[in-house]
Amino acid sequence: MLYNRTGKSGLLLPAISLGLWHNFGATHGHDSKRAITRRAFERGITHFDLANNYGPPPGSAEEAFGQILREDFAAHRDEMIISTKAGYHMWNGPYGEWGSRKYMIASLNQSLKRLGLDYVDIYYSHRFDPDTPLEETMGALDYAVRSGKALYVGISNYPAKATTEAAKILKQLGTPCLIHQPRFNMLQQEPLEQGIFKAAHDSGMGVICFSPLAQGQLTSKYLNGIPEGSRATVGQFLKKEQITAPLVEKISALNKMAEARGQTLAQMAIAWVLSHNEVTSALIGASRPEQIDDAVGALQNVKFAKAELAKIDKALNGSI
Ligand SMILES: NC(=O)c1ccc[n+]([C@@H]2O[C@H](COP(=O)([O-])OP(=O)(O)OC[C@H]3O[C@@H](n4cnc5c(N)ncnc54)[C@H](OP(=O)(O)O)[C@@H]3O)[C@@H](O)[C@H]2O)c1
Repeated sequence: MLYNRTGKSGLLLPAISLGLWHNFGATHGHDSKRAITRRAFERGITHFDLANNYGPPPGSAEEAFGQILREDFAAHRDEMIISTKAGYHMWNGPYGEWGSRKYMIASLNQSLKRLGLDYVDIYYSHRFDPDTPLEETMGALDYAVRSGKALYVGISNYPAKATTEAAKILKQLGTPCLIHQPRFNMLQQEPLEQGIFKAAHDSGMGVICFSPLAQGQLTSKYLNGIPEGSRATVGQFLKKEQITAPLVEKISALNKMAEARGQTLAQMAIAWVLSHNEVTSALIGASRPEQIDDAVGALQNVKFAKAELAKIDKALNGSI
């Protein structure tokens, strides 16, 4: 594993981190969750990413990971970076989502209980709340650190301008913003195009990119149809209709380039994310332990020649 410095902080994060958004709810068996997290830790993935609402049902991924922490990783807490977030809908009524101090602190207390922890390493505001003063949301993050319930704080899905402002407020409060968590992959490049990487980098934050495989689209799995049990068959966040003929053409072209590099497409997709200077870590998901091995294999070759990058752009534009 490679460990990268997170922005201007003292914290090193693994180049590949594991997220528990999918495959860790009550719908999945405990053995598979254990196998995936144990394989990740064995391969040097020290960072596990959660949120209050991961499941289904919401909260169940934190509960499952809490059990794994107790049963499998009790001796390893200080070797792990565990993050959680609040921002999306978690409970009914006016205090169960967005960015108020009331919600942010109540949710953190609930997460700690589910995880069976005294503190998380990183606590995030999961999304920008246009109706709550940024000072209030950032004040809640600062309080989380001061009260010992989090070591660092981060923001996720924040636009560029709010990123700069959030960093400024947190700096004034004396709790620097550690990290930004946007979605970024070859098919979805908004953080680069909209100045989010630049805003985060200029503010001294690291960047951890979620869905580097575009939920599995940037792997070879959809090249010949939609395999049973894949995320597209679940159809909640990735729908079958998204696997279109033009997409499959792009994926095929990219797959050939990956082969020429001696990589799987998943490995090339992760390497491509990591090839951006601002990026600290690629935050993957996995439904099986073998997918962890595939991802870690990406680190064998994270360099791209200019001509390769140009060819990837061509494939993405559909002009190959
Ligand atoms: N901050 C936010 O708002 C936000 C939003 C979304 C996600 N996240 C974080 O980012 C994490 C990762 O998101 P993601 O799961 O969408 O990431 P991803 O890495 O883009 O997709 C992971 C999925 O791709 C498939 N896959 C992985 N490796 C594969 C391989 N080698 N070959 C074939 N298929 C492979 C698996 O799906 P199959 O089931 O098809 O096997 C796997 O569950 C989440 O767990 C969460 O922690 C954060």
